[in-house]
Amino acid sequence: MPKRPEELRSYRWLGTDGLRSFGHRSRLLQIGYDRADFAGKPVVGIVNTWSDANPCHVHLRTRADEVKRGVWQAGGFPLELPAMSLSENLMKPTTMLYRNFLAMETEELIRSQPIDGVVLLGGCDKTLPALLMGAISAGVPAIAVPAGPMLRGTWRGEVLGSGTDSWKYWDEKRAGTISEDDWHEIEGGIARSFGTCMTMGTAATMMSMIEALGFTLPGASSIPAADSGHARMATASGRRIVEMIFEDLTPDRILSAKSLDNAIVAHAGLGGSTNAVIHLVAIARRAGIPLTIDRFDEIARRVPVIADIRPSGRLLMEDFYYAGGMRAFLNRLSEHLELACTTVSGRTLGEEIAGAQVWHDDVIRPLDRPVSPSGGIAVLRGNIAPDGAVMKPPAADPRFLRHRGPVLAFESYDEMAAAVDREDLEVTPDHVLVLKNAGPQGGPGMPEWGMLPIPLKLVKAGVRDMLRISDARMSGTSYGACILHVAPEAYVGGPFACVQTGDVIEVDVGARRLHLDIGDDELARRRAAWTPREPRAARGYGAIFAQHVAQANDGCDFDVLGPGPALAEPEIH
Ligand code: FES
Repeated sequence: MPKRPEELRSYRWLGTDGLRSFGHRSRLLQIGYDRADFAGKPVVGIVNTWSDANPCHVHLRTRADEVKRGVWQAGGFPLELPAMSLSENLMKPTTMLYRNFLAMETEELIRSQPIDGVVLLGGCDKTLPALLMGAISAGVPAIAVPAGPMLRGTWRGEVLGSGTDSWKYWDEKRAGTISEDDWHEIEGGIARSFGTCMTMGTAATMMSMIEALGFTLPGASSIPAADSGHARMATASGRRIVEMIFEDLTPDRILSAKSLDNAIVAHAGLGGSTNAVIHLVAIARRAGIPLTIDRFDEIARRVPVIADIRPSGRLLMEDFYYAGGMRAFLNRLSEHLELACTTVSGRTLGEEIAGAQVWHDDVIRPLDRPVSPSGGIAVLRGNIAPDGAVMKPPAADPRFLRHRGPVLAFESYDEMAAAVDREDLEVTPDHVLVLKNAGPQGGPGMPEWGMLPIPLKLVKAGVRDMLRISDARMSGTSYGACILHVAPEAYVGGPFACVQTGDVIEVDVGARRLHLDIGDDELARRRAAWTPREPRAARGYGAIFAQHVAQANDGCDFDVLGPGPALAEPEIH
């Protein structure tokens, strides 16, 4: 039974006869709207993370207009709501410090205004998780318009991938195998259009997972940002949100343990970013659905990586789109999916992907010829990571999947950065580099420092991978034998704080083991001697962050933003 106009949330603001409604309506007339533009219509909030400071989102300014066109076509009334834009590229120390800020802003933008449903415009790494977290907490119908990946990079006939090839050629520059001029040419060729990173970084991973979760129109997440189909998808999403409002298709009807599993299956098949583990746990917890990081490991053990996309594979998101995109990819994984889950289209995931074909088997591989037979992600545990740590095995040199080596430990990023280019640094290719105090509180915000640079003297000797362990995150575009998200982090006194240069660490990814080879007594002695550090920020948002942020294995959300008793609608008087 569709909602009647007087049952809409916005009716309390715009439909009644009181003085306040008079004020609300008169101010919409002030903008130049006519009563016929909004009377009896659902109000659609377009939460837009466009910003001049976010190169990945420059097209969202016009995409918002294209969403509005769809809203008008379907008989809705669109209101664009600018929100903080989290530019992975420009924002320091890390956008992760602000994911919860954007999530809170989204929730309160919706709650405090006459919004019946929202279209979420984002894509650059933390933006879509944050927008969705906020919309889930607000509880109104929500549809995501992923920003879409940029076009392939190119340099002298070579294809360049965001991030992945920056790291690669940076090491070549450090080793002296490419020139300063070469490096500047790469700078001009690696980001050729608007849109997100086009490798399987965190942006492409999260956009794809949010589609698998059911929050985009089918196929939306893989359309290149510069493709005209992207604009048409935005308009179609505008039309659809109006229907969703009348159907009362709220996030709790889409989110379930099964739809979360679908997102994790997609993550495994894509060889997705390690950051997605944190975001999906946070999304699930907003909805009150239990999810632990171990679910990623369980599903990755049985789902092969079939998307041959960098950094785990060879190609890029543009290739993925031409190969059939997300619908074809999901259809190929259909035996692993819960096909009965509802999506924002009102149809099931199975209905939306039925018949979608893969056009290029070298991009979206057949299940019997995968990029990696399993293990897009592994969750490791041990005496220095009792609450877990994550790794992306397909992106690592296989020799490090079982390794025992001496530790070279750094207490901070600055200490590491000052040491790593020293020619007299005592380090061998078998060393295990350890970076501490880079977690949620220590970073603060868990910066993407986990792909520690290979020491210069080893780079010059041709070394391109080493075992690295930290409580930081790493970019989804990064690669290498990097064990990340060690929890609890060193900064709050987790046992990881006790690792010292000269210790020996053993890693066995097959056994999911991460072990500091010292006795329990010695570990206990070091823990007793550990002294807490001052909080990173004494005032402002940083102080709030430090007081409320959860550890990585719990999704890094704020404790006050989890599910709880429903908040009352704002009084209108
Ligand atoms: Fe925006 Fe990579 S910098 S998606």
